[in-house]
Amino acid sequence: MMPNPRLIGFLNRALSHEMAAVQQYLMQSRLVALWGMAELSEQLRRDVEEELAHAERLMERMLIYGATANATQLIPVRLGRTLPEIFDINRAIELEAVRLYEEAADYCERARDFENRDLFAGILEEEIAHLRHIDKLQESLMKQV
Ligand SMILES: [Fe+2]
Ligand SMILES: [Fe+2]
Repeated sequence: MMPNPRLIGFLNRALSHEMAAVQQYLMQSRLVALWGMAELSEQLRRDVEEELAHAERLMERMLIYGATANATQLIPVRLGRTLPEIFDINRAIELEAVRLYEEAADYCERARDFENRDLFAGILEEEIAHLRHIDKLQESLMKQV
């Protein structure tokens, strides 16, 4: 199958996003563990698993097109110095994901590539749920502080 360069571009951008998110959330998971926040550390570790699963789905698709997964340009880790900062940073990262997957799903829809539209739209739904979850978590944690 001839790979469509724009599709491969979206897959690569998405993969870079997911690998950066993995690095980000793993680092924060260790940081908040040092702060003694075991519950939030566990949650961030579960987020790492979710983002890794997204990366795997993208990689599988790249393999089908004979493209090599190559996330060479990861955005720098933004740790945050306080809990509110961490939530703000992570909300921004999830918003970036939502925009990226919306754009990719739209492109595939217009190109009548429904298989890849479904891949991107499926991950999009999980990122929207992730964003909502961050809001809920922040609300409940800020009440405890
Ligand atoms: Fe993700
Ligand atoms: Fe996410």
